[in-house]
Amino acid sequence: MATSQLKRFDADESPGSVLERFRRFSFTGAPTVVEEREGVPFLFNEFWTARQRQAHRIHEISYRACFKPQLPAFFIEALTEPGDAVHDPFMGRGTTPIQAALMGRRPVGADINPLSVLLTRPRLSPPLLAAIERRLTEIDWQDGERPDLDLAVFYHPETLIELTALRRWLLERQAADAIDPVDDWIRMIALNRLTGHSSGFFSVYTLPPNQAVSIEAQRKINRARGQTPPRRSVPAIILKKSRTLLGDPVPYARAPSELMAAPAEATPAIADGSIRLVVTSPPFLDVVQYDADNWLRCWFAGIEPAGVPIAMHRDPEAWTGFVRGVMRELVRVLAPGGHIAFEVGEVRGGKIELERLVLAAAAGLTLVPVCVLINAQSFTKTANCWGVSNNRKGTNTNRIVLLQKR
Ligand SMILES: C[S@@+](CC[C@H](N)C(=O)[O-])C[C@H]1O[C@@H](n2cnc3c(N)ncnc32)[C@H](O)[C@@H]1O
Repeated sequence: MATSQLKRFDADESPGSVLERFRRFSFTGAPTVVEEREGVPFLFNEFWTARQRQAHRIHEISYRACFKPQLPAFFIEALTEPGDAVHDPFMGRGTTPIQAALMGRRPVGADINPLSVLLTRPRLSPPLLAAIERRLTEIDWQDGERPDLDLAVFYHPETLIELTALRRWLLERQAADAIDPVDDWIRMIALNRLTGHSSGFFSVYTLPPNQAVSIEAQRKINRARGQTPPRRSVPAIILKKSRTLLGDPVPYARAPSELMAAPAEATPAIADGSIRLVVTSPPFLDVVQYDADNWLRCWFAGIEPAGVPIAMHRDPEAWTGFVRGVMRELVRVLAPGGHIAFEVGEVRGGKIELERLVLAAAAGLTLVPVCVLINAQSFTKTANCWGVSNNRKGTNTNRIVLLQKR
């Protein structure tokens, strides 16, 4: 994932010279288009691409609304040095902290959803495949039960026994404070393989893994498709997915990290001025229902989903207020000269320009807007096509507000 054209980092760099570096950067040879909008430069180009820069396989777990590792990689390369702390206050599956660790930076992350730590932490201390294999032989796979929930709509009876046996094993180890990195890893894989639409998952065909449906909805899917859950081997699927995730060499055995289940706006565990770079993507207005998506994962991990107050700010004003609270906290944890790369997506057909709301949320804090960087995934047409009307259409773009702490 080399972005060597960016390599000229200087901790005291001014917003102007950072901007100049991004303006001159070209991955494909196409020139960056710059448009000044209300005093903020908007930069359009294909700054990174999934096609040309292969992401590390350890990222390959699904999570609703996750971004591609190429996005944090770009900013980490451009704006930090090895050893610097890189934080994501909405870390989700942990794309930013894991990419930071892969690049020799110190990973920091928070998410209000406790599943997020369970999905991220194990990949910062990945066990050896042999240790996973050994542990899978130690679990008594027949020690399961039929749970109160009617999970038979998703799972073959024998698969369900194995799944509940694994759940019991993990909850008992957790109660005894005996979860080690191997258990942690197995739980992460199991959370990821609970439901999905192929034979690589424990369940019968259902929605993709990050959108668990209700039991009633699954009943309807089963009726409509005339399907009953096939037998799937829980340990075999866990081992196979572990092989995939560990398929690329991991450059750390145990990356020292700070991960927490906490609201982005209150992370007292992170020291003042300790963070060099934040790369993040917040929950957008009402687009994603994290609690509805996560009920099955919460059941498996023994988490009460109703106890997770995930942000849902339907109107732009409330959302801006929420982001402002987060920005205030980020100003506290950032070192002077440190950056925030705040990714916002396309919402409601592009009618709401979230980047403007983010700039409004940051106004009056000790943050200088550097630019809004728009990464267009297929930058093949003439530069002019990225004018005001066109850049609203694409779903394949990332829009990042870049701010620097004074
Ligand atoms: C767009 S996703 C981020 C995905 C992440 N970039 C990744 O690659 O996986 C937004 C995340 O914000 C979390 N979230 C929602 N409200 C939050 C809050 N108040 N504080 C911290 N996290 C919150 C959600 O649980 C979700 O994981």
